[in-house]
Amino acid sequence: MQIIKYVFQPHGDERGQLIALEEFKDIPFEIKRVYYMYDTAKGVTRGHHAHKSLEQILVCIHGSCKVLLDNGKEKKVIPLEKPYEGLYVASHMWHEMSDFSADAVLMVLASDLYDESDYLRNYDEFIDFAVGK
Ligand code: TYD
Repeated sequence: MQIIKYVFQPHGDERGQLIALEEFKDIPFEIKRVYYMYDTAKGVTRGHHAHKSLEQILVCIHGSCKVLLDNGKEKKVIPLEKPYEGLYVASHMWHEMSDFSADAVLMVLASDLYDESDYLRNYDEFIDFAVGK
């Protein structure tokens, strides 16, 4: 399974770091939505779904977490612990986020607006949709 991790270029100087993310330049799609998770309770795993068409990039902008990616044939766990790293999550990719540090802020850049009908929340349905066809 190919893992696409972006390393964003910080504009650093003696004052600190700054990262800018522009659609079609740093991010390979139009950014239609940004959401983020914080104050995640200890031991919680989030996600447990795939998407029919949504593409996303996950950036743990503070703290750390882990992301399990599962394409229906292979699984990989990717640690996210740098604010300048972005993990690409293609559509048809089952994903689960876990091991959030208490201070973790996980930001997600998404290619479309929130649409519950784009979700594959059932693992068997995901396999049929993503692998079975
Ligand atoms: P949920 O899908 O349970 O999050 P996760 O996949 O991380 O477990 O989303 C939690 C709640 O937030 C749920 O009520 C739907 C809502 N939500 C939005 O309103 N807009 C969004 O963009 C997202 C991602 C979730």
